[in-house]
This record gives sequence, C-alpha cells and structure tokens, in this order.
Amino acid sequence: MSGPAAGPVVIRDVAGLRAMVAGWRREGASVGLVPTMGALHDGHCALIAASRAAGHRTIVTLFVNPTQFGPHEDFAAYPRDEAADLRVIADAGAALLFAPPVEVVYPPGFSTTVTVGPLGEPLEGEFRPGHFAGVATVVTKLLLMALPDTAYFGEKDYQQLLVIRRLARDLDIPVAIAGVPTVREADGLALSSRNRYLGPADRVVAAALPRVMRETAAALAGGTPAAPLLAAGRAALVAAGFSAVDYFAVVHPATLQPLDRVDGPARLLAAAHAGHTRLIDNWPIEPGRRGT
Ligand code: PAF
Repeated sequence: MSGPAAGPVVIRDVAGLRAMVAGWRREGASVGLVPTMGALHDGHCALIAASRAAGHRTIVTLFVNPTQFGPHEDFAAYPRDEAADLRVIADAGAALLFAPPVEVVYPPGFSTTVTVGPLGEPLEGEFRPGHFAGVATVVTKLLLMALPDTAYFGEKDYQQLLVIRRLARDLDIPVAIAGVPTVREADGLALSSRNRYLGPADRVVAAALPRVMRETAAALAGGTPAAPLLAAGRAALVAAGFSAVDYFAVVHPATLQPLDRVDGPARLLAAAHAGHTRLIDNWPIEPGRRGT
C-alpha cells in the first residue's frame, strides 16, 4: 500500500482493498465505487462527484480490462498514465485508487465468465462480440471485491449501464447501480477516453455526431415513422465525414428493442467511425418534448 500524504491511497490487491473498506465501515462510512479504465477526464470526475455528493467515501478502480477488447481493438494502444490519473482523482476528492495488476483480476486458471442475455446482444454486442461478457465479468468481480453501497457508471455507455444493472439484479449483488449523465464538450461531443485519438480533422467530423443525434431525436419525438429519419441521420453522418456508421438506432430505453416509431420514452443510440476512432453516443427521447 502506498500513496501521497493527504492524497488517495493506492491499493493493488483484494485483501488490502477489503481491509480498507472494512475499516471505513467500522467508522460508519458508506462507500461509493467508480470503475474506470483510466485516461480519466471530466466525465469520470462527474462520477466521483456524484459518489461524494451522496456522502460516500469513494474508491476509483483503474484496470484496463483485456477481456472486453476484441482481437483487432485498441487494448495495446489504450492510453495508460497512472500518475496523471492519480492526480485527477486526488483533485476530485476520491479516497482510494484500486489499481490491480492483471494477475490479481485474472489469476492463473481463471475460467468463469458472466454473460448477460438479450441486453448484451444488439448494438455494441453485435459489433463487438464478447465485449459485454468481458465487461460483465470484470464489473461483477469489482463489485464483489469492494462491495460498495453504490457503484457509478456514465450514461455515455448506455447499453453498458443497462447490462450492469441487470447483472447486479440477477446475481443479487447488494449494490445500487447509479447512472450519471454524459458530460459533453461545448460543441456537444461526449467526453470519452478515446477522444484523445482524434486528430484535428477527425475532431471536426466528431462534432457532427451529437448534432445529428440531437436533430434526429427531436424529429423522432414527433412520432413520425423512424426508418426514414434514421436513414437520413446515417446519411448526414456520412456527409459530415464519418467513414462508417455501425448503428444508428432508436430503441426502447429499458429493453433496447428497436422501435418503428416513438410513442413513449425511447433512446437513440449510435456508433460511428471518425478516421480510426470509433465513437459511441446516445440521446434520450421524450415525446412531447421536441427540444430533446
Ligand atoms: O466503462 C468503462 O470504463 C469500462 O467498461 C468498465 C466499466 C470500467 C469495465 O472495465
């Protein structure tokens, strides 16, 4: 165990984490958990702030989870700078950084996988096979390691949030799962660790994603058939410079089943490629509120 005086403690093993949490519990503290893969930004700080605002002593986990990356994805290139992340979480007021090495999370012989049924299959599940099994497995482990009162996840990864809520309920893990609204740049781009891959030209393209989503969500809220509006949205993204659109879909906000038209709460979700950077985003749709 080590850590700068007055800064967050850094722990890398499960026994040390549990001992620290047990000590906090004896002091009467409640505990919030903010799981991350590092490369922290203001979106992560909003998760820490939500945990602190609820009165929790807050643990940030830092683990670039190999099992949620596909073979041709950016696991090796994923930005890693623990010292910078530690400064961010110190400023944000978290009490503890849990940064386990891979063999602590996946010891030799590890062979259990958590899969979440239909919620993990469409959208990201279709384009990133195995992704949600990796997420569900590591999040289950992190929840059971720390057993916080509440764990915080960004709405930016909307499908991930639903998958995690489902697994916590299905496995009777006694933890509340809280979703925190997406933090955006001034032009609407959702904050993401992967935004740092964007070169200047791709950054201009990227700004079209929230704009097209906002416009499409507003049109869908009027109740007209979804298919032509979604086709127009895809075309607008390509016209703005996106090289590929993996999906641009309007779905039920709880089941993720596609909707032919919006006549109740819905969610618009998209994944698209700006240069070599794959961006995802989502937008709430509430009929009767055309300004969504
Ligand atoms: O959203 C993320 O950063 C990751 O998917 C998570 C939840 C930390 C699991 O590795």
